[in-house]
Amino acid sequence: MRIRAASYLRNHLRWVWGISILSLPCGPGFCQPAASPPDGAAIFHERCAKCHGEKGEGVSALIAIAGPNIQAEHNPGDVLTAMETGPSHMPVFAGLLTVDEMHAVADYVTQHLAVIPLGGGNPAEGGKLFRQNCAPCHRTAVRGGALGYTELNAPNLVNMPPALIAGAIRWGPGPMPAFPASVLNQDQLNSIVAYVKYVQQPPSPGGSPLNWYGPVAEGFVAWVMMFAAIGIVGWIEKGGKG
Ligand code: HEC
Ligand code: HEC
Repeated sequence: MRIRAASYLRNHLRWVWGISILSLPCGPGFCQPAASPPDGAAIFHERCAKCHGEKGEGVSALIAIAGPNIQAEHNPGDVLTAMETGPSHMPVFAGLLTVDEMHAVADYVTQHLAVIPLGGGNPAEGGKLFRQNCAPCHRTAVRGGALGYTELNAPNLVNMPPALIAGAIRWGPGPMPAFPASVLNQDQLNSIVAYVKYVQQPPSPGGSPLNWYGPVAEGFVAWVMMFAAIGIVGWIEKGGKG
C-alpha cells in the first residue's frame, strides 16, 4: 500500500514537474508561439456541445448525458460557476480548462449562444400564464412537483435559475412540451420567469403563511382543494420527487 502510494506520488511529482517546466515564464524572444487567445467556440463544441447541443439548445433529457438549454444564459459569471462547480451531473472543468479557456467559453456562451432575451416581465401576468401552461404538470412553482396523472415527473422549480427556466420553456426537455414564441411570446416568457422568481423569494408582508404565496394564494388554495377533493394529495407527498 505504502509502496503504491509512494510510486503514485512519484508519478504525480513528475507530472507537477512537467507542468511547472511548461509554465516557466516565457519572455519575448523565446517560447512564444502559444500566445493566440483560446478559441471559446472550439472548446464549447469539443467539451460542452455533446450535453448542451451545438447551439446551446439542450439535449433531450431522455439521453443520459442530457444538459439543459443555455440560450438564456447572459451572465458569464454563471457560466464560469457552472464550469467550476459542475452542477448536477455536469463535470467540473476547473482542472481540465485553464482560467483563460473558461473565460473564452463563458464569452462564447453569453455572446453567441444566448439568443433568448431575459428581463422585465410582469409577475401577476406570469402567475396566470403559469397556471394555464405549467401548473398542470409543475403544480405550483415552488411547492411540490410531480403530478400523477400524466406519469411525468416534473421537477419543482424551487432552485431553478431564470436562465434554466427560460431555456426549458423554449426547449421542452424530455416529455415536457416546448413553448415556441408562437405560443408564449417573449413578454409572456419573461413574465413567467418573473413570476417563478417572485414565488421563490416572496416578500412576506403579513407573516401569515398564505401571504407566502402572494398573488397566487387563491389559485393555489383552489388547486389544493381540488387535489384534496380527488384525494391524491397524499400520493403527491409520497411520490413527488424534486
Ligand atoms: C455531461 C454533460 C455536460 C457537459 C459535458 C457540460 N454540461 Fe453544463 N450542464 C449539464 C447539466 C446536467 C446541467 C444542469 C445542472 C442543473 O440542473 O442545475 C448543466 C448546466 C449548465 C449551465 C447552467 C448553470 C446555471 O445554473 O444556470 C451552464 C451555463 C453550463 N452547464 C455550461 C456548460 C459549459 C460551458 C460546458 C463546457 C465547458 C458544459 N456546460 C459541459 C451537463 C453538462
Ligand atoms: C406536460 C407536462 C409539463 C408542462 C405543461 C410543463 N412542464 Fe416543465 N417539465 C416537465 C417535465 C416532465 C420535466 C422534466 C424533464 C426531464 O428532466 O426530462 C420538466 C422540466 C422543467 C424544468 C427543468 C429543466 C431543467 O433544465 O432541468 C423547468 C425549468 C420547467 N420544466 C419549467 C416549465 C414551465 C415554466 C412551464 C410552463 C411554461 C412548464 N415547465 C410546462 C413537464 C411539464
